[in-house]
Amino acid sequence: MSYAAITAVGHFLPEERLTNADLERLVDTDDEWIRTRTGIRERRILRDPDKATAYMASNAAQDLIEKRGLDPEEIDAIIVATITPDMFFPATACLVQHEIGASKAWGFDLSAACSGFLFALSTGAQMIESGRHEKVLVIGADKMSGITNFEDRSTCVLFGDAAAAVLLEPDPGDCGVIDFYQRVDGKHAGLLSMPGGGSLRPPTYETVAKGMHFLQQQGRAVFKYAVDGMARAAEEIMDRHQLGIDDIRYLVPHQANQRIIDTTARKMGLDSDKVMVNIDRYGNTTAATIPLCFADREEELRRGDALVLVAFGGGFTWGSCYLRWAYDGSKAARARESYATAAL
Ligand code: UT7
Repeated sequence: MSYAAITAVGHFLPEERLTNADLERLVDTDDEWIRTRTGIRERRILRDPDKATAYMASNAAQDLIEKRGLDPEEIDAIIVATITPDMFFPATACLVQHEIGASKAWGFDLSAACSGFLFALSTGAQMIESGRHEKVLVIGADKMSGITNFEDRSTCVLFGDAAAAVLLEPDPGDCGVIDFYQRVDGKHAGLLSMPGGGSLRPPTYETVAKGMHFLQQQGRAVFKYAVDGMARAAEEIMDRHQLGIDDIRYLVPHQANQRIIDTTARKMGLDSDKVMVNIDRYGNTTAATIPLCFADREEELRRGDALVLVAFGGGFTWGSCYLRWAYDGSKAARARESYATAAL
């Protein structure tokens, strides 16, 4: 069996920045509270009402396709991890398939909130490992501004919009997704949810008036479970593979709160220079945070680098993944530069 390796990365960020100062004008909050409690300085917002998650996901996929010089017809399957699909159906994956011209692909959306990318990655990896797929596109994309109540200071400061994509292919050697540990527990589903709009509470004047189509979170309670879940998931995967801190090149955590990230790293015994962080610039972009870290730090990654990914989110959903990076990221960055020059 070949491992499924990440062989290319792409991303998309809306241009508009929403800073903490901007939020001070919307709700009773301040820059210091947001920075010290969450680590966020600004986030990106997709303001155009005619563009949403499929647009961002397609752009992230297109970025990957151009960097890699990939023919979209080679893509066998597309998995989009999202909790903010353009519509309940058709799936965002179908809209992306059409937009990028992946005429031979099938695909689906996967809903696991902030663990979405992790769950989609392990699903895609098993599709490769089965031998039935050669190229699987895994995208994490969320337009969180579409379900955020900008009158609720306890949630509106936290989230941002973004998409990032990875390509999975069989590795000829021993790199790729080595193992994963994943769990769900619906006992605390009500602590972090969007209660309206589904078949239980279809949209009515009442659901709109009660704000049921916005994300709702009991932050302090979720925080406790997230700290515990992230640390345990990291410990589980490290124990299984007898990984010491010197074996790990980077921890790539979901970006919900800088304090959760710091506590997870501390419990693992990792210094901050081994932890990928982008929450300061993008906020919590839900399914996009982890692949967005790859896109940000791609140039530093080399074949064989051991990465531990860890996430926790609504559901609850949580887990970890141990993977060995498969390619020299600096070469991919150079390929992108020459593409950009050639396109001029
Ligand atoms: O992404 C997947 C899962 N999600 C998470 O992992 C998020 C987990 N939770 C968190 O990250 C944190 O709980 C938050 C960042 C959401 C909140 O931080 P906290 O330190 O837990 O604050 P808190 O909810 O306990 O609120 C403390 C105080 C409250 O005031 P009182 O009651 O002590 O007077 C809040 O009303 O801070 C107040 N507060 C704010 N003040 C200024 C809440 N939001 C704000 C705000 N600006 N934006």
